[in-house]
Amino acid sequence: MSHRPRHKITVCVSCRHKNSECRPGLALIEKLRSAIDVASDVVGDDFAVSGVACMAGCDRPCTVAYQASSKTTYLFGDIDADADIDDLVAFARQYNDLSDGWSSATKRPVGLAEKTLARIPAAILATHVTEELLQ
Ligand code: FES
Repeated sequence: MSHRPRHKITVCVSCRHKNSECRPGLALIEKLRSAIDVASDVVGDDFAVSGVACMAGCDRPCTVAYQASSKTTYLFGDIDADADIDDLVAFARQYNDLSDGWSSATKRPVGLAEKTLARIPAAILATHVTEELLQ
């Protein structure tokens, strides 16, 4: 049976470097995949890294999102594939360890402090109407 990662890292592949036609997202995906693979002893093998066309953070290229079921979602911007790779891996480890994914700016890797564009709480959706709600 194949292993299905519970955590997802999504990288925008449409972002361009400012004042350039270069789109660094695909290279960032490759770099992130291998860095997480190398660090699998501490990060775990529970991450899938993939690309998407745009996450509406176009003024802060590149954008990278962390998601998991029942966990806080994060969107980071101004990510540089060389300068930020260690912090992205460190945050993956932290995100993996937190049951709800919630962390304050002071707990996240310092290099990501100014680059956090959004921290969205996990959605808790009611799947059925209880008798109590009807009264
Ligand atoms: S082009 Fe990357 S977030 Fe819009």
